[in-house]
Amino acid sequence: MDQQTEVKKKVMLSGIQPSGDLHLGNYLGAVKNWAELAEQFQCYYFMADLHSITVRQNPADLRRRSISQLAQYIACGLDPEKNTLFLQSHVHEHAELGWILNCYTMFGELSRMTQFKDKSAKNAENINGGLFTYPALMAADILLYQADFVPVGQDQKQHCELTRDIAIRFNNIYGPTFTVPEPYIPKVGARVMSLSVPTSKMSKSDPQGCVFIMDPPEEIARKFKRAVTDSDTENCVRWDPEQKPGVANLMNIYSAVTGLSFEQIEHDFAGKGYGVFKPTVGDAVIETLRPIREESSRMIAEKEYLRTVYTEGAQRASSVARRTLRKVYKRVGFVEKPF
Ligand code: TRP
Repeated sequence: MDQQTEVKKKVMLSGIQPSGDLHLGNYLGAVKNWAELAEQFQCYYFMADLHSITVRQNPADLRRRSISQLAQYIACGLDPEKNTLFLQSHVHEHAELGWILNCYTMFGELSRMTQFKDKSAKNAENINGGLFTYPALMAADILLYQADFVPVGQDQKQHCELTRDIAIRFNNIYGPTFTVPEPYIPKVGARVMSLSVPTSKMSKSDPQGCVFIMDPPEEIARKFKRAVTDSDTENCVRWDPEQKPGVANLMNIYSAVTGLSFEQIEHDFAGKGYGVFKPTVGDAVIETLRPIREESSRMIAEKEYLRTVYTEGAQRASSVARRTLRKVYKRVGFVEKPF
């Protein structure tokens, strides 16, 4: 692609906290689709390690997961040549702009954030200042790169709204400085529910209902065999998300990994029942995740390659972030740095 077209691409950015392992919901609902965005957008994806310490982390686990998550992203199809992949703490501009934006974010706004309320309820013994000011850092993550779009789930929409408000506020005081970003709702992307409670989203906090990308095949098979189907006795693979949420979830997953339509699935499993359907879905998922798991493990063992990826990623990210930060420093009235 020539330079001219490169420059005109809209910017897409998202951060992922390395606070848990990636699961099938993350893959089918998000990461898988991100791989295709690279042609159309200038994409930045980072491991939000600065954010993750708002909740106490075991240092060794945090380090391991940050690297392992990067490996899994690449294995899921995010090409480091086409996407800028990096660790947030390697680009110090995030912390610097984060501080500044704290001073343009209101106490009242932060107090209204539902994630803050949820997390403080869950971590009553550690309601720290970082947990409270988290959205200002998130705004910095986004605004540093002049992002046009932020692909996020429902739970982050309020933070995206606040980022827009902060950007608009700053621009109104100092003149145009930041691009005002929009949430990006992907056209495709399966909403994967828990295998044990099919009315809730698949989540790492419910390990029985959650299939992790790095789970060994036996484990995946076991989780699918135990998947909750229905309380009815119909034992029939039929698309009815209202009455049969468990079956609908399995059909959704199966359709996402095989590309088959719901009609085709109903047809293929007519008269076969859940005893056949559940392990078949399990096998299809095992085969989908196998190359991703193997590729990730290989990269994690190798180390050097990942190190090159995150080094180059941070350098690229920093050169963009630096420009925005310099502009902001000037706008707010800091004396230009002489070195
Ligand atoms: N807050 C996001 C989450 O918990 C992670 C995140 C941090 C993020 N910075 C971001 C997402 C910037 C999008 C853009 O999921």
